[in-house]
Amino acid sequence: MENEIKLVGGAVLTLALATAAMIVVPFMQLKDVPPPAGLAPYTEQELRGRQVYIANGCIACHTQQPSTIGAGRADAVRGWGRPSVAADYFHDRPTLLGTMRTGPDLFNVGDRIPSEDWHHVHLYQPRAYVPDSTMPAYPFLYETMVAVEVPPGQYTVPIPDAHAPRGRKVVPTRDAEDLVAYLKAMTRQYDVAEPLDAAAAKALASELRGRTRQED
Ligand code: HEC
Repeated sequence: MENEIKLVGGAVLTLALATAAMIVVPFMQLKDVPPPAGLAPYTEQELRGRQVYIANGCIACHTQQPSTIGAGRADAVRGWGRPSVAADYFHDRPTLLGTMRTGPDLFNVGDRIPSEDWHHVHLYQPRAYVPDSTMPAYPFLYETMVAVEVPPGQYTVPIPDAHAPRGRKVVPTRDAEDLVAYLKAMTRQYDVAEPLDAAAAKALASELRGRTRQED
C-alpha cells in the first residue's frame, strides 16, 4: 500500500509542477498584456474569413508565428516579419500558431502580398503562379459562369488562360471573399517595443552594472 501511495503521490506532484510551470505561470505573466496600439481588431468579414481558414485546414501547412531563429535562418530574413510577441495575438481566439511549415508563415502575408487578385488566383489554382506548388487548389470556394451570366460590375478572378475553365468566368463565393479579406488583414508591422520610463531605465542600468561586476 505504501508504494502505491508514493507512486500516485509522485505522479500527482509531477503533474502539478508541470501544470504550474507550463500553464499557471505563463497565464499569470500574460493575462494582463494589453493589445499594441497599432493592432486593429478584426472586422466582421475578417472574422468570417478566419473561420474559413480554420474550416479548410490551412493550419495544417501554415504557421502564424515568425520566430527569431527558423530552420537555420531568422524568419525576418525570409521576409516573414519580425518575431511575434504575445500581444500580437490579443484578438486571436483561438490562436492559429500552427506547427507545420509545408508552406510559408502567414502572420504578415498581407504585407508581402496585398493583391486581392493574387490571392484569388492562387487559392483557385496555386499552380497558376507557383508551378511546383504542393498546396491544394480550392476551386470549390468559387463559382464559374458563362460570360453572359456574370452580373454587371461583378468582380471576376483573372485566372491565366492555361488554368481557366474553358469558356467560363470565375467568381468568388462569399467564403472566398472573406478568406482573402482575412489574409490581407495579416499585417503586424507596428512597433511592439515598449519604451522604458526613466526610473525603470535607471534600475535596469544599475542591475546590469551589478551583473558585470559579479562576473568579473
Ligand atoms: C498541404 C499543404 C498546404 C495547405 C493545406 C495549404 N497551403 Fe498554402 N501553401 C502551401 C505551400 C507549399 C505554399 C508555397 C507554394 C505556393 O505559393 O503555392 C503555400 C503558399 C501559400 C500562400 C503564399 C504565401 C507566400 O508568402 O508566398 C498563401 C497566401 C497560402 N498558401 C494560403 C493558404 C490558405 C488560405 C490555405 C487554406 C485555404 C492554405 N494555404 C492551405 C501549402 C499548403
